[in-house]
Amino acid sequence: MKSFKIFLSIASVLLLSSCVEESPSMFRIGFSQCAKDSWRVVMNEDINREAMLYDNLDVEILVSDRDNQLQIADIRQFISEKVDLLIVSPNEEEAISTVVDEAEAAGIPVIIADRNVSTDSYVSYIGADNRVLGALVADHVNDILPGKGNIVEITGSIASTPAMERSEGFGSNLRKGIDIVAIVDGYWEENVAYEKMKPVLAKHPDIDLVFAQNDAMAYGAYRAAREAGREKDIKFLGIDGLMGEGKGVDMVKNGILEATFLYPNGAGTIMETALSILEGKEVPHKINLSSAMITPTNVRLMELQDAVVKEQHSKLEILHDRLGSYSAVLDAQRSALFISLGALAVVIILVFVLVFLLRKRSQLNRLLTEQKDTMEQLARETEKSAEAKMSFFTNISHDLRTPLSLISGPAEELRNENLDESKRKTCLDLISRNTDILARLVNQLLDFRKYDEGEVAFHPQKTDLKECLERWNESFVMLLNEKEIDFRFVELKRGRCLVNADKDKLERIYFNILSNAFKFTPTHGQIDVSLSRSEQGRGHACIRIHNTGTYIPPEERDAIFTRFYQSDSAKSSSGIGIGLSMAKIYTEMHGGAIEVDSNRAKGTTFSITLPLLDETAENTTAYGEGDKPVILVIDDNPDMVSFVTALLQDKYSVLTTTDSAEGLKTATELLPDLIISDIMMPGMDGLELVRKVKSSVMSSHIPMILLTAKSLEEQRAEGYESGADSYITKPFRPEVLLSRIDNLLQSREILRKSFEDGMLGVDKSASREDGFMTQLRNYVSENLSNSSLGVDDICFALGTSRTQLYRKVKSLTGLSTNEYIRIFRLKRAKQLLNSGNMNVSQTGYEVGFNSTSYFVKCFKDYFGETPNDYLSRR
Ligand code: FRU
Repeated sequence: MKSFKIFLSIASVLLLSSCVEESPSMFRIGFSQCAKDSWRVVMNEDINREAMLYDNLDVEILVSDRDNQLQIADIRQFISEKVDLLIVSPNEEEAISTVVDEAEAAGIPVIIADRNVSTDSYVSYIGADNRVLGALVADHVNDILPGKGNIVEITGSIASTPAMERSEGFGSNLRKGIDIVAIVDGYWEENVAYEKMKPVLAKHPDIDLVFAQNDAMAYGAYRAAREAGREKDIKFLGIDGLMGEGKGVDMVKNGILEATFLYPNGAGTIMETALSILEGKEVPHKINLSSAMITPTNVRLMELQDAVVKEQHSKLEILHDRLGSYSAVLDAQRSALFISLGALAVVIILVFVLVFLLRKRSQLNRLLTEQKDTMEQLARETEKSAEAKMSFFTNISHDLRTPLSLISGPAEELRNENLDESKRKTCLDLISRNTDILARLVNQLLDFRKYDEGEVAFHPQKTDLKECLERWNESFVMLLNEKEIDFRFVELKRGRCLVNADKDKLERIYFNILSNAFKFTPTHGQIDVSLSRSEQGRGHACIRIHNTGTYIPPEERDAIFTRFYQSDSAKSSSGIGIGLSMAKIYTEMHGGAIEVDSNRAKGTTFSITLPLLDETAENTTAYGEGDKPVILVIDDNPDMVSFVTALLQDKYSVLTTTDSAEGLKTATELLPDLIISDIMMPGMDGLELVRKVKSSVMSSHIPMILLTAKSLEEQRAEGYESGADSYITKPFRPEVLLSRIDNLLQSREILRKSFEDGMLGVDKSASREDGFMTQLRNYVSENLSNSSLGVDDICFALGTSRTQLYRKVKSLTGLSTNEYIRIFRLKRAKQLLNSGNMNVSQTGYEVGFNSTSYFVKCFKDYFGETPNDYLSRR
């Protein structure tokens, strides 16, 4: 999936980059041309051609035909269109200046071409220097006239700057003796010059030269002279030097004009300058273009040059056209490329999607196969378990039927009144034995069901294994030994073998294994039971049950402890396949283990190991593993019980029940360190349970946690009102429950630690004393001088069992009852010594020590100094 994402990003970048082509920004240039004459037509063509050289220049030309107002309107249109740059070739200087200012104010840069304006608000002026041009013409006149002569000057529109400047340059450079006999305004037009020349010719009979400020007007003057028959007497000079038929250069070639002066339009310079301005570059404020004289001597050269230029121009146009078509092709190709790239990207995306889907499908297939396998496995297991259950029920029926028939048969026999006494006894024995067998089978079944439903209660108590085995062996041998099996019990040599056991369950474990042994041992075979003690580590008791004549192969040794398992040999005899699995479960409940070892020659040995109880421990019921605090879990939901048990069992000894009444019984009898209870339970609910536990003197100290689905605030309040120490709502977070338990047990621990200080009850206000402890203290205090004061006396006096007394005292003080009594004696002794009324031995006797030396030893052990040292230090 990650690679797919990377691909998508690459594809989109590719696609975008191919679409986004860097195009140069286009500039729009407006060119306001003042007239339509030939010179300006050429200028416009040149401007357009020059613009072709630039990709990003778009030029629009508006021509105003020598009309100032029209030109002003044209310029304003360009301003309103917000062109990027304006080129103005102004008609008349003053008239056009204002609108040039307007363009500048609008932020549009202006280039003034050819003619000038009176304002300075343009960026650059480009044109020939008309004064210089006028002077150039004057120089030529000086050359061609012999020291004197009469000249007629025909000016362009005198309001335009070239006309004024050319005239100035011309007039001021003529040699003395050469006179301008007439100056007329030809208004830049051939016909105007023609008309104006006629009266001048009439008035001046000796005119040597006519200088017209452009070629068109020169031709007009020539026409008038020709009509007057004087064209051969007069030399005609013009300006512009245009190429083409009938234009200036052609007229020089045909002898109409004596010379013409090239007046460049500067189209190339103008466009170059325009681009520089648009690109933000600095440009000169004034650019002068140079001029040249064209006479018959260089007219050919000029024509050749012009032909070259024209050829280049046409080539340029061809190139431009080609470029246009190339760029059209390029555009088409580019579009095709975009489309192809787009298509390629789509194809690649589709391929990736396909690969992704295929991969997903194969994953799905794999998952489905796995699920199918799991389902098949489950089906197999279910089938196996169904088979096992079937055989289980078949076995049960068989096992029930056999003793039943051995009861019903003899019972029938007993109806016979003629039966002799020995037969009657045999019948009764049979009935009795088979009733026992039936009872055991039913017990097994019930155990099994209870365990399955999580209802197994565990009530351990201090148990002497040796004594139990002796007792059980007697009855087993009596019951089972009809095969005349040699049964031996190798008991412990010395001492007792104390374990913390639920006797009932221990009996089931033992009976199950021993009855199997009797069942499978052949007639006259041998069964040895031994009880031993291993003192390593915490110490274990081990019961070994060995019988001859049976063999369990290694591969079956684990399986025999699983439910419904029956070995081939077992199948032929009675047995329902749950006995050993229950024996294992019960053994593990005791913190023990069960193992089997088998040897073809020697037979089979089952070993049951159980943790030993510390013999030195006080003579009371201890349960739970080692020093782990004991927690009682009461919940009618077996799953919840199992769940909470699983959570707690590493750290705590857990007692469980699904019945609240049994929970209360366990709580008051065994006094666990903490109780966790549900609220909603059949019979007595959790709130009542809390009230009962808290109102009993014996159990009032036990912290209680209500673990319930009732989550409303008022329900919580009700929970606390009942006396619960904590209220946790289901579903709960395991760590919350664990830390709550920890806190409650710790606060007990703190109380316990502070207990010894206030033990004698001097500072009653300091301790929130439990009612029971007050009774205990009073009783011990009153009977302190009784050296034989012990647990039994206290139990009797306070109406408790030994278990309760031990648990209660331990839980509130951290001390055993005997420790409590001893420390009480010592503390009182110290009090008496302090009073100064008694010596050491008197004090010892007073607080119940029969021997002074023992009193001194105990005092030193507890206070770290002897009574005498204490007295002398005071
Ligand atoms: C055209 C023209 C040219 C002349 C120039 C001066 O209008 O008259 O013939 O040289 O203008 O601006």
